[in-house]
Amino acid sequence: MEKAAENNVVWHPYTITKEHRQKLNQHKSFVLWFTGLSASGKSSISNALECKLHEMGYHTYLLDGDNVRQGLCKDLGFTEEGRRENIRRIAEVAKLFVDAGIIVITAFISPYKEDRERARKLFEPEEFIEVYLDCPLHECEKRDPKGLYKKARSGKIQNFTGISAPYEVPEEPEVTVQTHEQGIEKSVDEIISSLDI
Ligand code: ADX
Repeated sequence: MEKAAENNVVWHPYTITKEHRQKLNQHKSFVLWFTGLSASGKSSISNALECKLHEMGYHTYLLDGDNVRQGLCKDLGFTEEGRRENIRRIAEVAKLFVDAGIIVITAFISPYKEDRERARKLFEPEEFIEVYLDCPLHECEKRDPKGLYKKARSGKIQNFTGISAPYEVPEEPEVTVQTHEQGIEKSVDEIISSLDI
């Protein structure tokens, strides 16, 4: 792949900046980067969180793995490489949303520490909030809302996170939510109370 600098591409500065857009929106913009196993609650909690922030008058956008993988990332699989590219694209899209003055919530397994750290580096320190949805594998497997763990156990799905592919637990996430011990509403409240909007 050609790199921008080698391709004679030069960054063109815009007159209207992130700060102008934040001022107009009357709130900061940042990314809430959810990470956790499949069925740990990412989609449900991120959706409920967006509803609450929206009701509170914040400008938001939700990027969810199951949806983005049907469009922007539909060419990608679940190998280490496929996931790395998935996370790279999402991080770049999230950066555009943050620049647009939006609070963006991303809901992807994002199992590799290195990929999450690469995503983090695209943002200012206070703009990237890693939210770890901590739920034991046996609980996710018990929930199994899409029957995918069952398929993974029987070998019908390869490279399944937690079964035949790794999940690297975040070491220092800004927020950790124990999703097996409490309901969605409590998790949403915990996340919101940790924010400095
Ligand atoms: S990520 O690892 O690249 O971050 P992402 O969040 O986009 O994954 O997609 C995960 C969703 O894809 C899961 O919730 C599940 O519905 C589905 N899926 C299909 N195959 C796999 C697999 N091998 N491993 C994990 N999730 C899978």
